[in-house]
Amino acid sequence: MIEFTDVTKSYVEGNHALRGVSMQIEDGEFAFLVGPSGSGKSTIIKLITGELRPTSGSVHVNGYSLSRIRKREIPYLRRTVGVVFQDFRLINNKTVYENVAFAMRAIGAREKEIRARVPYILELVGLENKSRRHPNELSGGEQQRLAIARALVNNPSTIIADEPTGNLDPAMSLEIMSLLQEINNLGTTMLVVTHAKDLVEHFGKRVISLNEGMIAHDGMDGYYTYED
Ligand SMILES: Nc1ncnc2c1ncn2[C@@H]1O[C@H](COP(=O)(O)OP(=O)(O)OP(=O)(O)O)[C@@H](O)[C@H]1O
Ligand SMILES: [Mg+2]
Repeated sequence: MIEFTDVTKSYVEGNHALRGVSMQIEDGEFAFLVGPSGSGKSTIIKLITGELRPTSGSVHVNGYSLSRIRKREIPYLRRTVGVVFQDFRLINNKTVYENVAFAMRAIGAREKEIRARVPYILELVGLENKSRRHPNELSGGEQQRLAIARALVNNPSTIIADEPTGNLDPAMSLEIMSLLQEINNLGTTMLVVTHAKDLVEHFGKRVISLNEGMIAHDGMDGYYTYED
């Protein structure tokens, strides 16, 4: 579960990126996080992954308290949260297979587990025929699916995706969002930052709208508070 209670975040004194954010995302939920540029979306993501600490208020993620977490506990928190970055952050001199295997090695998985798990995950995202390719030999949508495979491979209970369709055409965007929905249907909690209003409307999920560091709307009614 993700729980924010009256969270503020200031990068510089007197200037609040988040101003009293309270929200709760239950295990297994799917929520979109929307809002204009600068409204605080990435700040929320960085608070969830432990990259930042709140200035005041509390953040709880999968049993960890982010205002109190010790540095050495952060790797354990991160095993529970898979992150899909907007810019993919793939390793270009490694194959598709090795990009995914690398994420497992990073947490100390054994070769035997890796050999069993990586092909399963590549099949789940539809990249089973590309395992020997390098990222620069993949289309944008395939690279995005590889980034999702890597976020999934350690079986996190939560996936956070920052603009997962930012660089994709509409058909590919729909495909990627459908993949995230399928993964959610298998039980993974999903928080997706997006500017793609048409996709938000299409999927009919919970929408959390931020504006100037505050939650402007939070609901399942498809209500979207701003125009891009
Ligand atoms: N490292 C930083 N130092 C100072 N201010 C920052 C820093 N990172 C973000 N901010 C400020 O905090 C506010 C929220 O930024 P944030 O990156 O969370 O917005 P966002 O909603 O993700 O925007 P975008 O849609 O453009 O990615 C903005 O006013 C931004 O200028
Ligand atoms: Mg951002």
